[in-house]
Amino acid sequence: MKIAIDGPAGSGKSTIAKEVASRLGITYIDTGAMYRAITLKLLNENEKDFEKILKDTKIEFKEDFIFLDGKDVSSEIRKNEISNKTSEMSKNPLIREYLVEMQRHIAENIDVVMEGRDIGSVVLKDAEHKFFLTADVEVRARRRFNQLLEKNKDIEFETVLEDLKKRDYNDTHRKNSPLIQTDDAILIDSSNLNLEETVNKILEYIR
Ligand code: DC
Repeated sequence: MKIAIDGPAGSGKSTIAKEVASRLGITYIDTGAMYRAITLKLLNENEKDFEKILKDTKIEFKEDFIFLDGKDVSSEIRKNEISNKTSEMSKNPLIREYLVEMQRHIAENIDVVMEGRDIGSVVLKDAEHKFFLTADVEVRARRRFNQLLEKNKDIEFETVLEDLKKRDYNDTHRKNSPLIQTDDAILIDSSNLNLEETVNKILEYIR
């Protein structure tokens, strides 16, 4: 079984997709983490030959951690600076082509919940279940702000809101595989739902 969950930044996709996968006893794949890991790598390279760098790159998931060329980068890729850079970097067609192939390969022979921006529209077009998870931008910014506040007391809500709006714009307006709700995807608006309610709603549709 293939389940695709797409949606904008801060919609709670990762937490929800992970919980859905866990309840169904199947594999969870966070494709945003893959774009983040590649961005981290490219930012640290002087070489501008993306194709060559991509060919030499190894991305692996082990339990809840993501490894880039053998190194655990799970925390590093979550930094705000990387979030903004990834949104820019993910426009690059070479990077997309490389990661889409890798994602299809991962999902080939296993049951998965795969989460991202183009899963239902590009990566797993034939997924049995497709969901488009969203929430009001202010609600998403507030959730993100509360998360970031745990690590950084200096952060301002307005900055988080503006960053999120910028990422929404980038993700929905890029030429290659923009974030869209496909006709066959079920819209889930979590603005007024908590985690448990959202997960249950998705599981009801699947069952
Ligand atoms: O889901 P996330 O916030 O971790 O994703 C980080 C960035 O990666 C996001 O701004 C857009 C990009 N992305 C993408 O273009 N396609 C995907 N399937 C997943 C993420």
